Amino acid sequence: MAPAPGLRMFVCPNSLDIPDWPLARISACEVDVFSVSTHFSLSDIGQLRTLLTDDELSRADRFRFDEHRNQYTIARGWLRLLLSGYTGRDATQLRFAYASNGKPELVSDTGEASIDFNVAHSEELIVLAFARHRRLGIDIERIRQDVAYDDLAQRYFSAAEYACLRELAPTRRANAFFACWTRKEAYVKALGYGLALPLPSFDVFLDANVPYHIMRPSFEPGVQWHIQNLEVASGYAAALALEEANSTPTTAAEVFSIS
Ligand SMILES: CC(C)(COP(=O)(O)OP(=O)(O)OC[C@H]1O[C@@H](n2cnc3c(N)ncnc32)[C@H](O)[C@@H]1OP(=O)(O)O)[C@@H](O)C(=O)NCCC(=O)NCCS
Repeated sequence: MAPAPGLRMFVCPNSLDIPDWPLARISACEVDVFSVSTHFSLSDIGQLRTLLTDDELSRADRFRFDEHRNQYTIARGWLRLLLSGYTGRDATQLRFAYASNGKPELVSDTGEASIDFNVAHSEELIVLAFARHRRLGIDIERIRQDVAYDDLAQRYFSAAEYACLRELAPTRRANAFFACWTRKEAYVKALGYGLALPLPSFDVFLDANVPYHIMRPSFEPGVQWHIQNLEVASGYAAALALEEANSTPTTAAEVFSIS
């Protein structure tokens, strides 16, 4: 499969015992994807907590289980560290705004070049994606064989995607289900709607040898998307949806009116 042009993949260390995070450079034609495992020492998690705002700490502390609290803390802490690297701003000073369906965006106080990002987590892995001036979404799911994926696909995939899944040998269907699911979720996250956008209303399920473009319907005429699965770790499916450079997005209202 052809990778998204400019895709760079990184694995973050499992320790914060690193020198100052270098100022990262990312051009308009690059997209960076980082994976982070949640295996951090309690002392490193404590250090990451010091980067979080009071609101973020309250959110972390509302999680009932340690694993969810730690997952959120590590994801938000690393998001702040990486954004600090891209912007040169102090990680603790970064502010986020939230769109109506909850998508976080970086607030720019100084008019510096904007950086778009998206985050996903599943069990022991977190993925973070960054680009400039391009909408993007990322998703990751642990591949489980014990889910009723045929029922889920019938309910949430488009008719064309479901038909493709049914054509596969039964032994390949679980992996294919999660590959397709993450591509669909990455796309709705890139648009910012999340699952408020009906998943059966568009197709991403295509031949694995070609880059995935949204085939039906074209919610935004003139806007091209590159949607592809990412190999992040064994046992996980992940996908990135990236708006192609120089696309001209239409407004949110138009997205919903064409369904
Ligand atoms: C966004 C959404 C698809 C995430 O699904 P998920 O599998 O639970 O979570 P993921 O691990 O993939 O992603 C979570 C991250 O996505 C980001 N995110 C949150 N809302 C988002 C949105 N609408 N679009 C894109 N990204 C979003 C956040 O960074 C979040 O990380 P955080 O919780 O650490 O802050 C889901 O929560 C959703 O659909 N939310 C919107 C629902 C909504 O607004 N409903 C209203 C009426 S139906």
